[in-house]
Amino acid sequence: MKFFIDTANLDQIKEAQELGVLDGVTTNPSLMAKEGITGKNNILKHYVDICNIVDGDVSAEVNAIDLEGMIKEGEELADLHEQIVVKLPMTKDGVKAAKYFSDKGIKTNVTLVFSAGQALLAAKAGATYVSPFIGRLDDVSTDGLALIEEIRLIYDNYGYETQILAASVRHTMHIVNCAKIGADVMTGPLSAITGLLKHPLTDIGLAQFIADFEKGNK
Ligand code: E4P
Repeated sequence: MKFFIDTANLDQIKEAQELGVLDGVTTNPSLMAKEGITGKNNILKHYVDICNIVDGDVSAEVNAIDLEGMIKEGEELADLHEQIVVKLPMTKDGVKAAKYFSDKGIKTNVTLVFSAGQALLAAKAGATYVSPFIGRLDDVSTDGLALIEEIRLIYDNYGYETQILAASVRHTMHIVNCAKIGADVMTGPLSAITGLLKHPLTDIGLAQFIADFEKGNK
């Protein structure tokens, strides 16, 4: 399973990259705003800065909601860097734009997916990635992981190549369960990725090894 980090924070992206487990980055307009990145030129420059840190796909979301606007914005984003993936909302125009870009060989990520039917449409449009938001489903008492299972079944039935990018991942068990189900990619915060490192028995065992080594090598 590929690990993407879901942030526009350059320090966090660097930290995940240095860990050696990072395969890509996802951003969205809220994450860009959180970092105070505003204005077209600053936003475009920030995407290039991200591409220069990570060796992998970087999802950059369009802000337009009409087809013409999505195509114009998406082409501009795709021209920025070969690692850019054009992120499009799951709407009628978003699906049309996904088809347009996939026909041109430009990678896409269809976002804001909350049902298996939406994921089926994204695959038929030739999207590179589909992003079901599992954390936001869990937030409204709906099983986000069950949606990943449903999409996995449907895509495997027909051999769709669209990669399931489990998004809105909030914690370590989301990551572990996505891996068990067979999500192709997960995107989550740095805290969920580094949380995978932690186990008290590792800490206790290491302290014991250090103490025993020091006793024998005084
Ligand atoms: C996906 O690409 C989105 O950026 C993201 O995962 C949304 O996560 P949130 O529900 O934590 O905002």
